Amino acid sequence: MGKIVRPQGPIVCVVGARPNYMKMAPLLRAFARQPDIPGVVLVHTGQHYDVSMNARLFADLGLPPPDINLEVGSATHAVQTAEIMRRFEPLLDELQPSCIVVVGDVNSTLACSLVASKKRTPIVHVEAGLRSFDRDMPEEINRLVTDQLADLLYTTEHEATTNLAREGIDTKRVHFVGNVMIDSLREHLAHAVSAASTLGNAGIDPSIASAPDGFGVVTLHRPSNVDNPDRLGEALAVLRDAASRLPLVWPVHPRTRANIERFALTGMLKATPIVLLEPQGYLEMLGLLSAARLVLTDSGGIQEETTALGVPCLTMRENTERPVTVSHGTNTLIGRDSVRARACVAEILRTGGKRGCIPELWDGHAAQRIAKHLGVWLTAQAVALHSQS
Ligand code: UD1
Repeated sequence: MGKIVRPQGPIVCVVGARPNYMKMAPLLRAFARQPDIPGVVLVHTGQHYDVSMNARLFADLGLPPPDINLEVGSATHAVQTAEIMRRFEPLLDELQPSCIVVVGDVNSTLACSLVASKKRTPIVHVEAGLRSFDRDMPEEINRLVTDQLADLLYTTEHEATTNLAREGIDTKRVHFVGNVMIDSLREHLAHAVSAASTLGNAGIDPSIASAPDGFGVVTLHRPSNVDNPDRLGEALAVLRDAASRLPLVWPVHPRTRANIERFALTGMLKATPIVLLEPQGYLEMLGLLSAARLVLTDSGGIQEETTALGVPCLTMRENTERPVTVSHGTNTLIGRDSVRARACVAEILRTGGKRGCIPELWDGHAAQRIAKHLGVWLTAQAVALHSQS
């Protein structure tokens, strides 16, 4: 047996877009507490750059400012992915990391994994194995490829492990650890900003937060819902319908806001109790979600957060890569079907809707489990390397 050697080189942790931040924040904290984990270099690709999509969330989550920002900005998928790869490659040459850690399924996750795999740098993918089985979703392509390349795959639900096994991925590389996004939620929930304050700060009547039937929260940004005028029109019709039953509060993603204007659909929101807000900080979103009577969304993370909070979630998609939120949680898939949406909203107002239960290991300690396992793994890698030399 070889001598124990401490792994050399830092861990390069990659973030690029909003949903990455709440996953990476608990990991960075857990890595700092784990003695056999080397130092961390935090790389931001710059995929998201608006203050409301980016800096504000860093502050809310207690994330340190990135050590390096690749400042790629927005572009087509191919250009954005290529640009991240072009800028990430020399960084890996310089840093010679012991591994890279990527989270989720955004373009930055895929781009950095591709670069690392060609450099033979180990890839750790947190939130591996989720599948919508819908290749029209750009994230599905990112998930499939990243998981094929990853050396260590940490999963949030059992279904993910089954998906990876089906794709021929060695189950020895796969570890069910729970959900780091829920680590963040549990850590910050007590500091959430109240819904009334968020509305008041935006110059909106805060009494909406205490409307007799409660209020709903909306988020919508998937290309499948917002990039086509007909589909966006259908989605807005669903929201208008729901708003005839209870007021809706909608922090609007910049992509969606731009498309509502481009497709001349602003009229559909006129004279409705739908309150449009700028994208909100993490603590504001937690306050809104936790106080909501129901949530209408096409976000992946919000399906999980509502399950963790026990708030009914109507997901405006035909599928989900997070089936545990439907089987165990509070999630219901409604697509853009306004008849179904109307029935679900009425049911929630009448009965309170799906109560659900908390999925296994969504207990606030997923990052700790990952840090512990990764520390042992890196040490074993170093030992193996040393005994070969
Ligand atoms: C990305 C992720 C998606 C994630 C979402 C969360 C991919 C393929 N998609 O989608 O999985 O759920 O982030 O928000 O990685 N824009 C701004 N300011 C910004 C960022 C974007 O105005 O800071 C606008 C730009 O017009 C841009 C558009 O939003 O072209 C799309 O941004 P992009 O990062 O390509 O994808 P998202 O839709 O944000």
